[in-house]
Amino acid sequence: MGKAETAVVVLAAGKGTRMKSARSKVLHQVAGRSLLGHVLDTATAIGPERIVVVVGPDMGDVEAAAAPHAVEQQPEQLGTADAVKAARAPLSDFNMGTVFVLYGDTPFIGVETLEEMLAERERGAGIVVLGFRPDDPAAYGRLITDDAGRLQRIVEFKDASEAERAVTLCNSGVLAIDAAVLFRLIDAVGNDNAKGEYYLTDIVGLARADNIDCSVVEADADELQGVNSRADLAEAESFWQARRRRQVMDDGVTLSDPSTVYFSHDTQFEPDVLVGPNVVFGPGVTVGQGAEIKAFCHLEGVKIGAAAAVGPFARLRPGAVLEPGVKIGNFVEVKDAVLGEGAKASHLSYIGDAEVGPEANIGAGTITCNYDGYFKHRTMIGAGAFIGSNTALVAPVSVGEGAIVGAGSVITVDVSKDALALGRGRQANKEGRGGEINAELAAKKAQAKKGQN
Ligand code: UD1
Ligand code: CA
Repeated sequence: MGKAETAVVVLAAGKGTRMKSARSKVLHQVAGRSLLGHVLDTATAIGPERIVVVVGPDMGDVEAAAAPHAVEQQPEQLGTADAVKAARAPLSDFNMGTVFVLYGDTPFIGVETLEEMLAERERGAGIVVLGFRPDDPAAYGRLITDDAGRLQRIVEFKDASEAERAVTLCNSGVLAIDAAVLFRLIDAVGNDNAKGEYYLTDIVGLARADNIDCSVVEADADELQGVNSRADLAEAESFWQARRRRQVMDDGVTLSDPSTVYFSHDTQFEPDVLVGPNVVFGPGVTVGQGAEIKAFCHLEGVKIGAAAAVGPFARLRPGAVLEPGVKIGNFVEVKDAVLGEGAKASHLSYIGDAEVGPEANIGAGTITCNYDGYFKHRTMIGAGAFIGSNTALVAPVSVGEGAIVGAGSVITVDVSKDALALGRGRQANKEGRGGEINAELAAKKAQAKKGQN
C-alpha cells in the first residue's frame, strides 16, 4: 500500500438528549476545546487526505465548528451504518487506502492508537476494530473472535446471547476500513435487529462472509470514554486534567499542588516554571522558562516571558504580553497590554490597552482609564517611567521615557520624556487648625452628654 492514504469520518449526528442542552453535545468543552475539536485534532494529526463530519439536521453550530472540513447531513438517524453512508459523496473518489470512523463524543483516542490500527491494516486486515475491556462492559457491542483471536463479527448487546454477553472484549465503535470495500459492505447492511437500526458493526460479519480478514486492536478504556451526560463531561474533564498535570510535570514544570491547577488544551510551558496552588489557565497561555505563577491566578490568552513573576491573585486577560522578568503582583489585572522587560506592577492595578516600557514601575492602585463608554483608547508608558500610586491615566495618553508621575494624579495630558507630572490639587497645611477643630468638637460632645443626664 506504500505510504498509507487515509480519510476520516466523524459521526456527530447524535442529538445528545441526555445533556439537556440547547447546544449540540459535541460542542460541549473539555479543557476549553469542544469534544469535536479534540477529535478533529487527533484526526488531523494522522495527516488524512480529508475529514468528513456527519451531522444531523439543524446542527448549524456543529457545521460551523467542523470548518474547514467537509460536513454532510444525515437526514434521519437510522443507525451508525446509515450515518457513514452520508459521507459517501465527499469520499466518492477516495477508494484506495483506509477510512477511519470516529465518534464526535469520544474525545481522547490517541494518535498512536490510530497509527497502530493503520499498521494492522498494512498487515492485510480489511477491517480493524478498536476494542477495549471496560470495568463494566454494560451495553457495549461485543467483539466475537475465533480461536486464533481473529475478529469474526460484532454483536450488539441487545441482540447478543448469554454466552456472547459474557465476552469482555467490547466494541469502541472506532474502525479502520479498506476504502475499496467500505461502501459495498455498508450497502449490504440491513436493519433486521433489536433496534431496527442499520448497524455499522454488521460490516464485520459481511466482510468475513467475503473472506476479508478482520482484526482487533485493543486500547485502554480511558482513551475510549465517551460523553453522554454532564456527569460524563465532568469525568472527562477531570481525566484530561489529571493526565495533563502528569505531562506538564514530566516536561519540567513544578506544580506545588497539582490537583488544584487547571490547564487548557493549548497551555504551553518551558521548563523550570513554578506554578502555585489554585491557578487556572484558560486558552492561549504560554509560559517562559523559569517564570513563577503564584497561588490563585487566572490567566487567559497571555504570553509570559522567562523569569517573570505573576501573582498571587493576578488576573491576566487576552492580549497580555509580559516580557522577560516582568513582575505582576497581587490584585493586578492586565488586558491587551505589553509590559516590557523588567517592568513592574506590584499591587492593585488595572492595565488595559497599554504599552509599558522596560523597567517602568507602576505604583499601587494605578488604573488605565481605557474606555469612555463607547471606544477603547491606548495608554503608552515609556521605558523607566515611574507612575506614582493611585494614578488614573485617562487614555489616550502617553507618559514619556524616564518621566515621573506624582501619586494620586489624574493624567489627561501627555507627559514628555523625563518630566515630572502632578495632576492633583495642591496640598495646604494650616498650622494649629487641627488642634482647634479637636477642641471644638470635644466641647460639643461634652455638652450633648450633659443634656442627656
Ligand atoms: C455503538 C456501537 C456499539 C459500541 C458503542 C460504543 C453500533 C451499531 N454499535 O453503539 O457496538 O459498543 O457504539 O460506544 O455501531 N450516530 C449517528 N447517526 C446515527 C446513529 C448514531 O451519527 O444514525 C452517531 C452518534 O452521534 C454517536 C455514534 O454514532 O456519536 C454512536 O451512536 P450510538 O447510537 O451512541 O451507538 P451505540 O448504541 O452506543
Ligand atoms: Ca453511545
